[in-house]
Amino acid sequence: TILVLDFGSQYSHLITRRLRELNVYSEMLPCTQKLADLGWTPKGVILSGGPYSVYWNDAPHVDPAVFELNVPILGICYGLQEIAWHFGKNVLAGEKREYGHAYLKVERHGDSEAGGHVDKLFADLEDDMEVWMSHGDKLSHLPEDFVTVATTSNAPFAGMAHKSKKYYGIQFHPEVTHTPKGKVLLKNFAVDICEARTDWTMGKFVDQEIERIRRLVGPKGQVIGAVSGGVDSTVAAKLMKEAIGDRFHAVLVDNGVLRMNEAKQVKETLTAGLGINLTVIDASERFLGRLKGVTDDPEKKRKIIGNTFIEIFQETAKKIAAEAHESSEAGEIEWLLQGTLYPDVIESISFKGPSATIKTHHNVGGLPKDMNLKLIEPLRELFKDEVRELGMNLGIPEDLVWRHPFPGPGIAIRILGEVTPEQVRIAREADYIFIEEIKAAGLYRNISQAFAALLPVKAVGVMGDKRVHDQVIALRAVETTDFMTADWYPFDGAFLKKVSRRIVNEVNGVCRVVYDITSKPPGTIEME
Ligand code: XMP
Repeated sequence: TILVLDFGSQYSHLITRRLRELNVYSEMLPCTQKLADLGWTPKGVILSGGPYSVYWNDAPHVDPAVFELNVPILGICYGLQEIAWHFGKNVLAGEKREYGHAYLKVERHGDSEAGGHVDKLFADLEDDMEVWMSHGDKLSHLPEDFVTVATTSNAPFAGMAHKSKKYYGIQFHPEVTHTPKGKVLLKNFAVDICEARTDWTMGKFVDQEIERIRRLVGPKGQVIGAVSGGVDSTVAAKLMKEAIGDRFHAVLVDNGVLRMNEAKQVKETLTAGLGINLTVIDASERFLGRLKGVTDDPEKKRKIIGNTFIEIFQETAKKIAAEAHESSEAGEIEWLLQGTLYPDVIESISFKGPSATIKTHHNVGGLPKDMNLKLIEPLRELFKDEVRELGMNLGIPEDLVWRHPFPGPGIAIRILGEVTPEQVRIAREADYIFIEEIKAAGLYRNISQAFAALLPVKAVGVMGDKRVHDQVIALRAVETTDFMTADWYPFDGAFLKKVSRRIVNEVNGVCRVVYDITSKPPGTIEME
């Protein structure tokens, strides 16, 4: 195991992710972790970057015992400063900001001056390397017993190594993709220098996580969690099921604005397919009742749906808790499962302790704040593609694993104008045809998100010799990696023609179909 001590850099989690990619197991803990409390000895330690300056009065520092473990240490950015600080407090030149790409020159020492290990960090790498810099401080000179192993035009000590101990510091970030060969460097450190084992797999993650959940929840503990049919909540739910069986209670709230047949399908997959203890609440009427008359305020739709969701979830939780308590030896429901992924976590674990500020879980519409439940978040260290891999590993159907994201307020924000049962029908049917054709054309995975929206206007058409005055469907399909920026998908004309023909023919009330060719920005992915 590699111990990653986190000083709060926005990139810290990428370090553990890269190590996972190398099949190396690592644990990330706050930088103030006392080593005496650790209970195990790491094969090596990585000190992450961080937003501080080591010479600030309130700057965080590692337990000095790290330097007595006698294992290799790699300091990245702030981590380099921290090593330099440990060995000589006068080596810092103060703030000199440097961000962005830089060209690194590697300096090799051979066996002569410093023993073979200093060159090992840059083994199998070219002498010139593109790297990503993001730091505030730099060294004025090297601490005693260190040698330079890399320089840039701006930073004469962009990389340093101790002459006799396996301590290394680098000013750049090897964990980001902007440092194209960064993974080789991390491999050199973790696998060759630390000799960490490379047998970690997603299967092991499952075992470890199940163990952790069991320990956390105890032999009688009960957990509740909302599921949406999306990949994150399903994977989290399946993991809970594996860990504690029916003491995990999944709740699917049908808000009346899910996709066509969705509630039914999700129920089938989760119960019959995955064996999850699921309660489905059909609350369509309550949701649609409250949405009535809301015509031109998308945020109001979101609020109504979010608040109604919380209300219903709370009612259901109470009921389930009472039943579970009555019918078994089980304890109270104390835990709330959330399928939060790493990118959803606003702050990383900083030295101030684990962060409690979590973005409300998109797909399930928000966290009931006053329920007094403890959070359990098995996916909080993972990225989306890792969750998909985990999902495959847990036997979740491929269809579900690759599902496009779907907003909590559902098609209510894809029906521009008032949401009525009739508008829901039209939007649903059109959406169903569009997605069906995308899948049939083998394009579903090339597209990040696709849907049909219903515009609040009527247009004239001619159908079967008759003049009609009917509604307009707008199709939207985008490609994106992070959903922050997106491009519309360049379907070919024949595909669009087919979808348009089917929607106009098969969906009652629609006489026109348009394709949205707005990128994000300036458009958003959703239309409201
Ligand atoms: P926008 O429209 O902001 O969407 O470009 C970016 C991503 O977020 C999803 N989205 C939402 N998800 N509740 C959600 O759970 C919402 O209110 C919401 N609004 C947008 C959207 O589907 C896309 O994936």
